[in-house]
Amino acid sequence: MKLVAGNSSRALADAIAAYLNLPLTKCVVRRFADMEVFVEIQENVRGEDIFVIQSTSFPANDHLMELLIIMDALRRASARRITAVLPYFGYARQDRKPGPRTPISAKLVANLITEAGADRVMTLDLHAGQIQGFFDIPTDNLFAAPVMVRDIEENFDIKSSIVVSPDVGGVIRARGLAKRIDAPLAIVDKRREQPGESEVMNIIGNVEGRSCILVDDIVDSGGTLCNAADALLNMGATDVSAYITHGVLSGGAVARITSSSLKNLVITDSIQATEAVRVSNNIRVMSIAPLIGEAIGRTADEKSVSSLFD
Ligand code: R5P
Repeated sequence: MKLVAGNSSRALADAIAAYLNLPLTKCVVRRFADMEVFVEIQENVRGEDIFVIQSTSFPANDHLMELLIIMDALRRASARRITAVLPYFGYARQDRKPGPRTPISAKLVANLITEAGADRVMTLDLHAGQIQGFFDIPTDNLFAAPVMVRDIEENFDIKSSIVVSPDVGGVIRARGLAKRIDAPLAIVDKRREQPGESEVMNIIGNVEGRSCILVDDIVDSGGTLCNAADALLNMGATDVSAYITHGVLSGGAVARITSSSLKNLVITDSIQATEAVRVSNNIRVMSIAPLIGEAIGRTADEKSVSSLFD
């Protein structure tokens, strides 16, 4: 078994390697002058079971190309089995046609990954579970929930807390977490009553006097979270924190969150934290490396991965 890392998730890959007590395979991933990607695997990988760790995070297209080209190099070097480990699967939000003459980019990316040589895929908190069906190869969708639950139990008084889904689409994820910590559930229902009118935020559930824990898969611009936090405080919540798996945090998101009414935002290291995240006073990163490391180890040993989440 060997681990190979692209440039997007180097720190996470180092942590996974440390968990598995296995050095990363020597591999150069660099650019030609015109920014084409060049890869050279500097060790023999013939007949090996290889796990390529690479989130397709910002810059998404460069990191996706790195992943594809690394797998092409491995396949041509006679690797026995290649697992694409995408702690963050970029393009997942484009999983259906939002209008006529638009692409389903998540499916295209799934095809590219398969065509480049992946025999298996491992990812974390897919935006929509059914994206697994875009692959015709085994696909493990891991859940950050057990790691979040441990952190929540250490930092919250569950009796006075409530789990909140920031939109109707995230209810299943939030309900799953609420069940694990035995807390009630509330839902933020965003609605535009008439075209051109501003969005109305309704809260389904009673949040008064409770610490709210928003749960979601992605924080990108931070708009969903910050608006939900304001709406919850208006409805009498004591304070609002959030647990989000993937800190995409584009543009001015970190500044928006830092100056928002959110008490705390906890994200995982599925996407490498920027300096702005590291110095932020209300964003904390918890590592998902042990979970992914364990899942990789079990896959290599042909053991159950789903039992990690029982
Ligand atoms: C949407 O369906 C996702 O689950 C997130 O709620 C969304 O991507 C967050 O985006 P933003 O932070 O830009 O509001």
